[in-house]
Amino acid sequence: MNLENIIHKKNNDLSKRIDKQKVPEHVAIIMDGNGRWATKKGLPRSFGHNKGVSVLKEILKVSKKLGCKILTVYAFSTENWTRPTKEVDFLINLFSEVLKNEIEEIHQELIKIRFIGDLTPFPETLKKIIYNSESLTKNNKNFLLNVCVNYGGRQEIVKVAKELALKSSSGEIKPSEVDEELFNSELLTQGSKDPELLIRTSGEKRISNFLLWQLAYSEIYISDVLWPDFNEFEFLKAIIDYQSRNRRFGGIESLPNESFKDSQCSS
Ligand code: FPP
Repeated sequence: MNLENIIHKKNNDLSKRIDKQKVPEHVAIIMDGNGRWATKKGLPRSFGHNKGVSVLKEILKVSKKLGCKILTVYAFSTENWTRPTKEVDFLINLFSEVLKNEIEEIHQELIKIRFIGDLTPFPETLKKIIYNSESLTKNNKNFLLNVCVNYGGRQEIVKVAKELALKSSSGEIKPSEVDEELFNSELLTQGSKDPELLIRTSGEKRISNFLLWQLAYSEIYISDVLWPDFNEFEFLKAIIDYQSRNRRFGGIESLPNESFKDSQCSS
């Protein structure tokens, strides 16, 4: 058996353990470790980002095949501007190149692509490519790919608070009408259900200002693998782990003989 067949068999064996009825609809991913991956190999960090793109393509395919409906990835945080200009420029150029090269296939696969974050500081050329990609794919219904760029969870929450305050001061809404549903409708992810699963690669155990509101009840899976080494096998492992979790949303599991006295406080 050649290497490709061995990998295919390994993935196939693992995917048999997945309960197709319990696949998360929305998976969020912090794709971390590109730079470290490259540095470990004695390569410039840009090599890690390039490899990261091919991993994203693989994970997009796999998640679609499994029956997930939404993938939200953290491609550039509001804090990433503090990186050396050379790396920031490389990433901005990479986003343009990836979109130019991949948008036709994304569209053919009936995937809708949406960029989440403040696009204002990006160059006009990138903004145009982003708007064209969003417009081309806006009616696609098979799958939604949210790409978070210049995104920060706190900034998003402040933006919603400001919008609701403005609507309230103009009389459009009453302060008493502000509730979770209304707040949700103003978020940048509006229309998407919250992620059931957050995957973070490279072993870091932080949320890093990602989807702070939306991740309130998400299951978190930390993979020690650096993003450029992440693959179908690692993604399937994350889904299997997720399926083994007992999601209680702050309640308690209703077991027939369980009394209130015996139950544990859960979150
Ligand atoms: C984190 O690794 C990764 C990034 C900041 C960039 C990820 C971007 C892509 C994979 C491109 C996606 C492109 C499109 C158009 C969707 P890091 O640099 O923080 O790694 P480190 O923690 O090892 O330094």
